[in-house]
Amino acid sequence: MDFKEVIADAISKVTNINKEEIKQYIEVPKEESNGDYSFPCFRLAKELKQSPVNIANNIKENIKIDENTISKIEVVNGFLNFYIAKTKIAEEAIEKFNTQKEEYGKSNMGEGKTVLVEFSSPNIAKPFHIGHLKTTIIGNSLSKIYKYLGFKTIRLNHLGDYGTQFAKLIEGYKRWGSEYDFSTNPIDKLAELYVRINQLCSEDESVLEECRETFKKLEEGDEYCLELWNKFKELSMQEFDKIYKLLNIEFDSIKGEAFYSDKMQEVIDLLEKSGKLEESQGAKIVNLEDQGIETPCIIQKANGTSIYATRDLAAILYRARTYDFDKCIYVVGEEQTLHFKQVFATAKYLGLDKKYTDGLEHVSYGMIRLPEGKMSSRKGNFVKVEDLLNEAITKSKEIIKDRDIENKDLVSKQVGIGAVIFEDLAESRIKNQVFDLKEALNFNGETGPYIQYMAVRTKSVLDKAGYIPDEKIINFNKITDELSIRILKYLSNFQNTIISSMEKNEPSIISKYLIDLAKTFSSFYNENKILCDDKELQDARLYITYMTKVTLTNGLGLLGIEVPEKM
Ligand code: ARG
Repeated sequence: MDFKEVIADAISKVTNINKEEIKQYIEVPKEESNGDYSFPCFRLAKELKQSPVNIANNIKENIKIDENTISKIEVVNGFLNFYIAKTKIAEEAIEKFNTQKEEYGKSNMGEGKTVLVEFSSPNIAKPFHIGHLKTTIIGNSLSKIYKYLGFKTIRLNHLGDYGTQFAKLIEGYKRWGSEYDFSTNPIDKLAELYVRINQLCSEDESVLEECRETFKKLEEGDEYCLELWNKFKELSMQEFDKIYKLLNIEFDSIKGEAFYSDKMQEVIDLLEKSGKLEESQGAKIVNLEDQGIETPCIIQKANGTSIYATRDLAAILYRARTYDFDKCIYVVGEEQTLHFKQVFATAKYLGLDKKYTDGLEHVSYGMIRLPEGKMSSRKGNFVKVEDLLNEAITKSKEIIKDRDIENKDLVSKQVGIGAVIFEDLAESRIKNQVFDLKEALNFNGETGPYIQYMAVRTKSVLDKAGYIPDEKIINFNKITDELSIRILKYLSNFQNTIISSMEKNEPSIISKYLIDLAKTFSSFYNENKILCDDKELQDARLYITYMTKVTLTNGLGLLGIEVPEKM
């Protein structure tokens, strides 16, 4: 039942004002004490030529509405507050749940639509830093959210495997490669090589010139260069895979920027055709002023080489043709905002259907740093993400070591990783973040482990009872206390929460919801004896426990977090 609809319909009959208009004005009050829905009468003051208080009193006196649905109406300062009958809330919430049960929250609203989620995209031969961890975690969650809502979802990793830095590495490897053992921590060693060759370049201009030559050779497909480049790529992928495995993340397609190197000429040709390509000091650029962007997009440098943006444009063409996408989102840090503005604006001149260019979206996130201070890969004092994840697991193991749990290795992995993931998704993605592992692992804070713990608790209550009550025999009249009603209201908001997190590409909407739900369950559990002598009451409370279990589990799943068997 759509309560808003019922209320709007009744008000409309008293006031003779269009139902749809009324519906627009109905709000959900922030304070629970102001009822479940509220109608601000000042909205009609002009039309009805009466004071809001008069309107409110008049509506209250004359309204005809079923008492079994709306149990109370109050006038407060020109607002009409409506209270939904408790049994009705319970009945509605449970009915909604029962149509889906274990799949609670799912929808097919996205059917027939394809969404590409590009995320992670680290650079090979460079450390995977905590900024990459953040895009990996956000992107993974978003892809799950879209999928849950019925969209066909494709997960893309756009590896950074192109550019002069690889030529530099090749030159470094030629000089000092034999000094290193690449079988352990290869990225650290490649990073060291990179620092060394950069040093030499800054001292000796001729080495830099050699590197430029090597890059040209690499672009032209020189065998030796390609072989080394492949080796760097392989070594890096092995390292990244360790992180993906810890996080339980897979991609549908992993393609490096280099994949697009032979597809860039077409970009240049298309832009030429659209008359948008200009020469500027030997370079080829697209002026974007008429789209409100002051800096032009460089397509080709004066020396004829392509740039990062050109490869992104080629990727857009490729993705449109390969996947026929409706939406393509890029989960990349906010420092690349201008880059994506330029790329998306330039893409409009590629002659693609508007559907594709309208579907491009940069999903950005704020700066992230560790409490010790900013990490820098250039100076070499970075924290390895793999170490961070392993530390989270070790610390979790420490916390649970004396508990009666069978598979401690698995549980500490689920909890440690869950803590890291939740920490990255707890706040709105655009906020800058200090990543505090200690805080993330606080079982009593607003953390992943706290929610996991509540989910485990619902399981153990159900295990103890030994059954899940049949929904057909639940007596709604048994559910009257404040906390049960509150939790049922939360539960019935699950799907709306998922939908708004999809619309805003914001997993934190789900995170916040889960924290509220877990806290409410905790109070519900403390105040109500679930297993009790009154069988009907027990069934009703057990069923709420079951609904909470499913909702917490599904919600955590959408963030990429597992629920342990025991904790
Ligand atoms: N590799 C880049 C980096 O680490 C991110 C790539 C973002 N994606 C893109 N299509 N440009 O900064």
